[in-house]
Amino acid sequence: APIDRGRFSNKTVFIMAAIGSAVGLGNIWRFPYVAYEGGGGAFILPYLVALLVAGIPLLLLDYAIGHSQRGSAPLSFRRISRRLEWIGWWQVAICVVISVYYAAILAWAIQYTGFSFTQAWGDDPETFLFQDFLQAGEPGVTLEFVPAVLIPMVVLWAVTIVIMALGVQKGVGATSVIFIPVLLIAFGALVVQALSLPGALEGLQTLFQPDWAALAQPAVWASAFGQIFFSLSVGFGIMITYASYVGRKIDMTGSGFVVGFANSGFELLCGIGVFSALGFLAQASGLGVADVVADGIGLAFVAFPAIISQAPLGALLGVLFFVSLVLAGFTSLVSILEVVISAVRDKLELGRVQATLVVTVPLAIISILLFSTTSGVYVLDIADYFINRFGILLAALVAMVAVAWGVRKVPWFAEHMSRYGSIRLGGWWKALVMVVTPIALVIMLVQETITAITVPYEGYPAWMLGLFGWGVAGAAIVAGVLLSFTRWKATTPMEAPEAD
Ligand code: PHE
Ligand code: NA
Repeated sequence: APIDRGRFSNKTVFIMAAIGSAVGLGNIWRFPYVAYEGGGGAFILPYLVALLVAGIPLLLLDYAIGHSQRGSAPLSFRRISRRLEWIGWWQVAICVVISVYYAAILAWAIQYTGFSFTQAWGDDPETFLFQDFLQAGEPGVTLEFVPAVLIPMVVLWAVTIVIMALGVQKGVGATSVIFIPVLLIAFGALVVQALSLPGALEGLQTLFQPDWAALAQPAVWASAFGQIFFSLSVGFGIMITYASYVGRKIDMTGSGFVVGFANSGFELLCGIGVFSALGFLAQASGLGVADVVADGIGLAFVAFPAIISQAPLGALLGVLFFVSLVLAGFTSLVSILEVVISAVRDKLELGRVQATLVVTVPLAIISILLFSTTSGVYVLDIADYFINRFGILLAALVAMVAVAWGVRKVPWFAEHMSRYGSIRLGGWWKALVMVVTPIALVIMLVQETITAITVPYEGYPAWMLGLFGWGVAGAAIVAGVLLSFTRWKATTPMEAPEAD
């Protein structure tokens, strides 16, 4: 008989899990910088347009696919049409790639939580990060392990495996139900502390100062759409998988709006916290805020250590910041792994624990081998850049066009979602997901492709960009296609079951 796939016990658990996936490193270390670069206060306009015109509509499409087909990404796509199954496997492959490096960043954040007390970075956090902590050599590949990264990675993967083995409700759901409120408290406390630092107001002024001229630049609009897609975790199978665990009569459309606005609300909070702290750093170093602005790894592991060293109660600020990173990132890691585990369960009809081990043990080994060595940081940087563009964005576009124009199922999905949804999906939604959002995605992808081809990312050697960038993104597609040709168990029904 087909397996018991597991389910979320109620709507709140589902919403928390979806918020847990959406709220991640992107909110904390990506949004503040993207908003600042994209016109500061004026960025609110493209950002809200992207959220309402593309982000939430696409989120609702993902929900519709998973909730109506009641399967993992590959099974859901297959139930829609056999010819679309490969898209689901492509999304699974993308999640495999992301999970292996996402875990490394979380391991760094775990270490830096401890470093907040000792200020191990001294007065040069940048040199400390690359030379002392990561022991990064020349760009290349080595097999020299770095114990300070290896140990937290092993611990992190061990904890992750236990949680994933606990299943949909007791593992995935319960983690978010606990972690998301704690995250809100921790980051809320960080915002309060950061706001009280000298220079905080200059920081906020720098972030919110509206540059209306930015709105005339297409690149600003593209970055708003890019941020929204990444931030909502749409288009790579996560929301399909989570929605497949939700009861038939649950209000999915209202939930989608709650998740979308909660994620954006948290992003705004992150902007305030991060720029208050950067304002303090600027003042303490006698520089302008623009001189200390950073994002990503540079923000979290270089700028924040400098802030922690100089701020009153710096250790507290550090713990709040790095714990927030770990909590936000962990619930996202869980969500990408669930995509893979769910697909493997559906495909092989394995038990929960068995499927968890089959998926996570090899991933843990690959992740640790690749990213606890001295070359890990470069591989990570390249894979992240490429898989976000030529993985997630491209897969989202292909899925959307296939569903909207290949099998023409959007009206059917609108009806499905409207049956128990508090917000009806009418002509507005169909027009957005069939026409407007695909066009926005095409424009962005063309721009990104031109950039990636003409400007070698961060000046890395061509062989590294080819292998870990184009190679990995391309391999995800090939893996998707190949997997779609393998056999399903005869007991797996190819029609979505009615009741649950
Ligand atoms: N939505 C996440 C964020 O904003 C991104 C993400 C989710 C990345 C899940 C990987 C896995 O950070
Ligand atoms: Na997010």
